[in-house]
Amino acid sequence: MEPIVIKCGGSVMENLPKAFYQDLKTLQAEGYSPILVHGGGSAITQLLTRLDIPTNFHEGLRVTTKEILEVVKMVLIGTTNKKLVTNVIQAGIMAVGLSGIDGFFIHAVSKQAALGWVGDVVNIRSEWVQQFIENGVIPVIAPVGMDEAGNHYNINADSVAAHLAKTFCAPLIYLSDVEGILVGKDEREMVLKTLTKKEAEQMIASQRISGGMIPKIRSALECLEHGVPEVVIANGRDPQVIRHYLNGTSFGTKIILGEEAKTNV
Ligand SMILES: Nc1ncnc2c1ncn2[C@@H]1O[C@H](COP(=O)(O)OP(=O)(O)O)[C@@H](O)[C@H]1O
Ligand SMILES: [Mg+2]
Repeated sequence: MEPIVIKCGGSVMENLPKAFYQDLKTLQAEGYSPILVHGGGSAITQLLTRLDIPTNFHEGLRVTTKEILEVVKMVLIGTTNKKLVTNVIQAGIMAVGLSGIDGFFIHAVSKQAALGWVGDVVNIRSEWVQQFIENGVIPVIAPVGMDEAGNHYNINADSVAAHLAKTFCAPLIYLSDVEGILVGKDEREMVLKTLTKKEAEQMIASQRISGGMIPKIRSALECLEHGVPEVVIANGRDPQVIRHYLNGTSFGTKIILGEEAKTNV
């Protein structure tokens, strides 16, 4: 039983192909235990727009007022989580949805007052995840956390996925709406096969990596520094994505710590 954390970006949630769900089964057949974490960025923005509630981001994190937090919970826990659970079950695998509130599953604290109700993970009850995967059940995790006083927090799904990858020392695949880390003079036209920590820091400083890619890269580097074997950012729309992982063929952008690792791949 080999845990593998797959984070399904809110950006790509609606566009995950049938093959993705079927390949969760393939992963299980090959001895892997998928753990799913999802975002909900696009659906949250859509509902906020319909409700005429303005929304802002700071370094890829949504500034979360009390009003926005209510919408975040509605979408993440109410709609997105249940849609993903349904799709996994439809593919013939048992799945259970969990938010960080249920059973105090994700203990969170405020990240930074200026961000409002945005949380950082303090602890995740990973023993529950363990129990689910031991029973062939895929946990589907909505990134909402709670503190001891019962306050709820909006947590960037990338950091929840990273926390789980660290806990299980499991590979982590970020499925997003881009092929990987894109570079290019005028436009982002080329996909990097690998990205080192140094390159990542330079690209963030020069804003060639921006928005939602920032928390993803920061979480990825933190994972690698804690011994996570592999972190890849890839396009969730690609029906071959899980197959590539299983076949060991190169896909998306692999985040690595240093050049040394680069020569070894
Ligand atoms: N260098 C880059 N390469 C690729 N994407 C980038 C880069 N810099 C910023 N981005 C943005 O990051 C986005 C992915 O992050 P995000 O919108 O949070 O998606 P997700 O739902 O997968 O977390 C891309 O759609 C793209 O707009
Ligand atoms: Mg994101």
